[in-house]
Amino acid sequence: MCGIVAYVGQKQAYPIIINGLRRLEYRGYDSAGVALLNGDLNIYKKKGKVADLEEHLQDKELKSTIGIGHTRWATHGEPNDINAHPHFSASGRLAIIHNGIIENYNSLRKDLINKGHEFLSETDSEVLIHFIEDIQEHNNCSLEEAVRLALTKVVGAYAIVVMSKDDPNMLIAARKGSPLVIGIGKDEFYLASDATPIVEYTNEVVYINDYEIAIIKDNELKIKDTQDVPMTPYIQTLDMELEAIEKGGYEHFMLKEIFEQPRSISDCMRGRLNASTGHLMLGGIREYANKLVNADRIIMIACGTSWHSALVAEYVFEEFCRIPVEVEYASEFRYRNPVINEGDVVIAISQSGETADTLAAMELAKSKGAIIFGVCNVVGSSIARNSHEGAYTHAGPEIGVASTKAFTAQLTVLTMMALRVAHRKGSITERKYRELLVEFEQIPAKVEKCLELNEDIIKISELFKDATNFLYLGRGYNFPVALEGALKLKEISYIHAEGYPAAEMKHGPIALIDEEMPVVFIATRDSSYDKIVSNIQEVKARKGKVIAIVTEGDALIPKMAEFVIEVPSTNEALMPLVSVIPLQLLSYHIAVMRGCNVDQPRNLAKSVTVE
Ligand code: F6R
Repeated sequence: MCGIVAYVGQKQAYPIIINGLRRLEYRGYDSAGVALLNGDLNIYKKKGKVADLEEHLQDKELKSTIGIGHTRWATHGEPNDINAHPHFSASGRLAIIHNGIIENYNSLRKDLINKGHEFLSETDSEVLIHFIEDIQEHNNCSLEEAVRLALTKVVGAYAIVVMSKDDPNMLIAARKGSPLVIGIGKDEFYLASDATPIVEYTNEVVYINDYEIAIIKDNELKIKDTQDVPMTPYIQTLDMELEAIEKGGYEHFMLKEIFEQPRSISDCMRGRLNASTGHLMLGGIREYANKLVNADRIIMIACGTSWHSALVAEYVFEEFCRIPVEVEYASEFRYRNPVINEGDVVIAISQSGETADTLAAMELAKSKGAIIFGVCNVVGSSIARNSHEGAYTHAGPEIGVASTKAFTAQLTVLTMMALRVAHRKGSITERKYRELLVEFEQIPAKVEKCLELNEDIIKISELFKDATNFLYLGRGYNFPVALEGALKLKEISYIHAEGYPAAEMKHGPIALIDEEMPVVFIATRDSSYDKIVSNIQEVKARKGKVIAIVTEGDALIPKMAEFVIEVPSTNEALMPLVSVIPLQLLSYHIAVMRGCNVDQPRNLAKSVTVE
């Protein structure tokens, strides 16, 4: 949700910034811009993709060893050249890039207009830089002090970087609620929303925390809080490979990430699970492990695809641990007055670790005394850092906006958590536990087999690419997979798709079924198999076109369904890890055939850092 990048050092800033913006484009892509300083402070910005900005700048003189850049996902004001970042202050001396939302920008704007300020854009970010300059002029103070004072008065979320025409060696950055990381090179500093623009230059980073201000001046990094108290920068080593954030020969990041799943699931299990010894341990859950084992209730909070993985986990925890689970949309949970009792624990699930609603819901639960376990993919992200304990999913950077490998990695972590708890509680027999571990270890190979179905799925996609509606139906463990399949299709192909528990169909959606309606059944062999067979018959009776995901060797459903996709058999609790793969491929190919930009679907952003 907006990507920011900045550089100060000895090198030319523009190539570093534009490269960084390309890496951050998954966070927002409706406009982009840079500010560079070479005597004059110049801002260049353009509606559209980073490539449009590059083209616009082709014949410009872009020399500068300091600069800031931004790729935008619009919140205030439509996407156009003027609303694009960076923004100038009133005098043109200062420039800002901002990720987040300033909630009280309207009142600040009115006050500034009364003082004679004129605004070019409709953005809250332009208001902020005018406000900072106004404070500096009014108090006759340093820029650092003006930024600090301004931030004590703004309400909302931000990661900002400010540069000044008067100081070619200084960048001031701050965060509250939106991510910001600083890479430390030799006599140079890289600032970005995440580590992807930094990883090719340095692996030494400092993650800035909420209410901290970073002042980089004359080759030195200082950190203070908004009360002006100096903090010691905590330098960490980045554990990220450059190849993990490149397409590696695939046409799209999404396809690469779908195909990475055998490896990402193995990476997620590595060192944690060993079926031959019965070892299952999540190193990040120690001190509070007993809280989880003895929980009276588990509340899972998440959004979107992560919410779907929580729904699968609900089945797993309830079946094996016998602990009641409630799965909550973070955005609803945070605005209720939820009841949290002494024995409750909360699991917050988020790929990015920055989703504003999940973060806020988790903070609310914490304030009511809950112990929070974070399940995040991005190392060092806000949710990971603000949880009491947790487990990383280790899927590697997920760049495609539609989540794929993060979903299966979340399922892997949550299932490992559940099996560990069940084993410690004794709510599962040793034999069953061992059987499940053996089966679990085979999942990467089974996912690999599903990927071999790619060519068949391309053929099916060809036949359905022009459909206007889709229904996805599943039962039990495969019900959340139906929701996920429908979400994947709608978000990247813009085809209307609904996911439902198959039995709910007759309470409404059955009215939609006619010969035009493709219905995807996730009908693998499990405890609800006979029931879903009846549901398929109900659809057939109304002439719906059935595409069925079935277990290899199924003899019955192929006689009923128009199209059948066979996946390897596994325990039903692990089946979502397998049965979701063909659905990811189906949505990918349909979207590509419809000419959609699968990695950057319209109106979406990878990391939703605003509510
Ligand atoms: C769907 C998708 C979104 C995210 C949701 C939560 O493909 O990517 O629905 O799952 O925005 O994001 P995280 O997991 O980063 O909290």
